[in-house]
Amino acid sequence: MPNDPGSAGPVAVDIWNWSLDQSLADVVDAHTLLSGDEQGRAQRFLKDVDRRRYIVGRTGLRRILATYLGIEPRAVRFGYNNWGKPELDLADRSRLHFNLSHSAGEAMLAVSAHTEVGIDIEEIRPLEEDIASHFFSGSECAALAALSGGERLVAFYRCWTRKEAFVKAHGAGLSVPLDSFDVSLEAVEGQHLLERLDRDVGRLADWALLNLDVVDGFCGALAVSAAGRDVKIHYRSRSAWSANMASMM
Ligand SMILES: CC(C)(COP(=O)(O)OP(=O)(O)OC[C@H]1O[C@@H](n2cnc3c(N)ncnc32)[C@H](O)[C@@H]1OP(=O)(O)O)[C@@H](O)C(=O)NCCC(=O)NCCS
Repeated sequence: MPNDPGSAGPVAVDIWNWSLDQSLADVVDAHTLLSGDEQGRAQRFLKDVDRRRYIVGRTGLRRILATYLGIEPRAVRFGYNNWGKPELDLADRSRLHFNLSHSAGEAMLAVSAHTEVGIDIEEIRPLEEDIASHFFSGSECAALAALSGGERLVAFYRCWTRKEAFVKAHGAGLSVPLDSFDVSLEAVEGQHLLERLDRDVGRLADWALLNLDVVDGFCGALAVSAAGRDVKIHYRSRSAWSANMASMM
C-alpha cells in the first residue's frame, strides 16, 4: 500500500506510467479482462487506434490495481461517483484511491491509500485558437498573456493540467467552476501550485498540487487531498513495470 492511513507523516502517492501504443497481440487476455461495459465502450470507438489505446489503458489499470488489492485483474470492479469519477467498488471504499489520465500514446495513473487524488497529462501541441480565455481564471489569463511565444505554450499546458488535476481530484467534475480557483503557471517545484480556492469549493490548505515528471513533449500534474500533510511521490519505473508486470500484459 502506498501509505499508512494512521500516519501523520507524508501522504504517499504512487505514480505509474505506460505506453498505450502496444500491439493488442502483446496484451495477453486483453478482451477477457475487460468488463461487459468496458468491452462495449471499446467497440464504440470509431478509430482503431483509439480502441486499442483504450483497451491497453484499461488492461494496464486493472493489472496495477489488482496487484495492490491482491485479486485477479478481471475481478477489479469499478463504480462511478455522481460526476463520473471511477472508484473501486469495494466494501471498504476508503482502502485505495486512484485516478487515470491518458494523452496521445501515454497513460499515467496515481494510486493512494485513503486520499483522493487527481492526475492529468497532456501532450504539448500547438494551439490553434484562444482556449485560455474560455477555461482559465482572470489572473491565470493575465499571467499567460505576460509571457512570450514558446514560454506561453508550455505555461498554457502547465495551467491546463494543474486545473484539470484539481478538478479530477475534487471529484465534482466540471461542476467545479474553473474560475473558482487559481493555479500557478510557473515551472516551480513544491506542492503549493494551487494558489487560490473559493471557500464554497474547499479549503486551500487541504489541497496539494504538484508538478509531475513526465516523458518529453508532455506536461503533467497531480492534485492530492492532503489535509495539510506533505506529499511524497513514488515513481514506479518502467523497468519495475516491465519486470513485474510485462509477463501479465
Ligand atoms: C473527463 C474529465 C475528467 C477528464 O477528461 P480528459 O482530460 O479529457 O481525460 P484524462 O485522460 O485526463 O482522464 C480520463 C480518465 O479520467 C477518469 N475520469 C472520468 N471522469 C472523471 C471525473 N469526473 N473525475 C475524475 N476522473 C475522471 C477516467 O479514468 C478516465 O479514463 P477513461 O476515459 O479511460 O475512462 C473531465 O475533466 C473533462 O471532461 N474535461 C474536459 C476538458 C476541460 O474542460 N478541461 C478544463 C481544464 S482548464
